[in-house]
Amino acid sequence: MLRRLYHEQPDSFDFTPANRAWAEAQITKYPEGRQASAIIPLLWRAQEQEGWLTRPAIEHVADMLGMAHIRALEVASFYFMFQLQPVGSVANIQICGTTTCMICGAGELIAVCRDKIAPKPHMLSADGKFSWEEVECLGACANAPMAQIGKDYYEDLTAERFAGILDDLAAGKVPVPGPQNGRYASEPAAGLTTLKDFESGRTQYNASVARAVELGDTVKRIDGTEVPILTPWVRDAAPGAPADEMATDTDDRSEGRPVDATGVSKQAAPVKPVAEPAPVPEKSAETEGEVTEAAPETLTGPREGGADDLKMLKGVGPKLEKTLNELGFFHFDQIAAWGPAEVAWVDNRLTFKGRILRDGWIAQARQLAAGEETEFAKRAKKDKLYD
Ligand code: FES
Repeated sequence: MLRRLYHEQPDSFDFTPANRAWAEAQITKYPEGRQASAIIPLLWRAQEQEGWLTRPAIEHVADMLGMAHIRALEVASFYFMFQLQPVGSVANIQICGTTTCMICGAGELIAVCRDKIAPKPHMLSADGKFSWEEVECLGACANAPMAQIGKDYYEDLTAERFAGILDDLAAGKVPVPGPQNGRYASEPAAGLTTLKDFESGRTQYNASVARAVELGDTVKRIDGTEVPILTPWVRDAAPGAPADEMATDTDDRSEGRPVDATGVSKQAAPVKPVAEPAPVPEKSAETEGEVTEAAPETLTGPREGGADDLKMLKGVGPKLEKTLNELGFFHFDQIAAWGPAEVAWVDNRLTFKGRILRDGWIAQARQLAAGEETEFAKRAKKDKLYD
C-alpha cells in the first residue's frame, strides 16, 4: 500500500510541555551521536498527541534528533503504527488481512468496516469517530481473524462480534480485548489437551487482557499526564509527576507488587545506575542564570568564497540552516563568537529553544572555524547525510 503524507497539513507542531520533557528524557537514553535511535518513541508520542503524524511533527522530531527530514519520513512511512492521515477520534481499526486471518474471515471483518465506518480505508466515518485500514500480519495468527483497536488486540472475531465491538466503542464503552470466542489465550479451540492442571488455577483473563482490563481504557491516547516511562537520571523528566513516582537509582521497581505462589516475581536486583551520565550542555557562563539577550553581529550574505555548510553542526538540518542564514549567519566563526547574550538572542528566534547549548553548537563551530573536523561532521560527510 502506498504510504504518503496527507494532502492537508497543519502549519506547525510542537510538543506539549509534558510531552517535550518526556521526549527530551528519552533522547538521553542513547549515547552521543546516536540520538536518532530515539525516533520511534518520539514519533509515536507525537502521534499520540495529535492523533496522527503530520509533516510538521515528523520534521519537528527530525530536528530534535539532528536528522535529515527525509530520514524521519522514511521511518514514519515504513511502519503501519504511524498514521499519516487523520484517524477516527475514538479509534482507527486495523484489520489484519494476511494469510491466516484472510483464510479465517478477515474479508468479513473488512465488510463490516465498509458497512459501519466508511467504504474505503483511511476515510473517516460520518461522525468522525472511526477509521479503518487493512494491515499486515500483527503476530496473533493463532487467534485469527483479529483486529488491533487502540492499544489492544481483539481476537477470534466473527463479523457479528466485531460489529458489536464497534457499536460498544461508538457508545463510549471499551469492550474487553483478547479472544472473543471463549478461548483463554491461544490454546486449542476445543480445550486443553495437555497441561490440564493449568486450567483450574488460571486467573479470569490471560495476562495481556488482565492488564488491559486493569488500565480500563485501551483506546485512550497517551497525553503526557500519566506516570511516565522513567528515566531516573533525568530528574525533571515528568514535570508534575509526584516525587515518589520518580524512580531513584536504587529503587526496586517491583516493590509492593504482588508476588506469585512461588514468590519469584519480586525483582531481586535493584535498578542499576546508568554507567554514563546524560550528555550535558556546554558548561560555561552561558549556562548560568538568566541572560539578557543581545543581537550578535550578522551579515546580509555570505562572505566571498561562499557560506560554510552549517549543517555540519550537529543539530542543524537544512531547515535550521535556512533559518540561520535568514537571521544573518553564514559562517562557523560567527557562531563561535556568540556569548551567552547572543545565544539568548538567537534562541529566542528559533522554534525549538535550548538546542544551541544542548547540541553544543558553539564548541563545534569553534572547531570547524579552526579548520578541524568534528565527529559529527566526519560522519555526515562519510554518510552523505545531506547530499
Ligand atoms: S495473519 Fe493475522 S495476525 Fe498473523
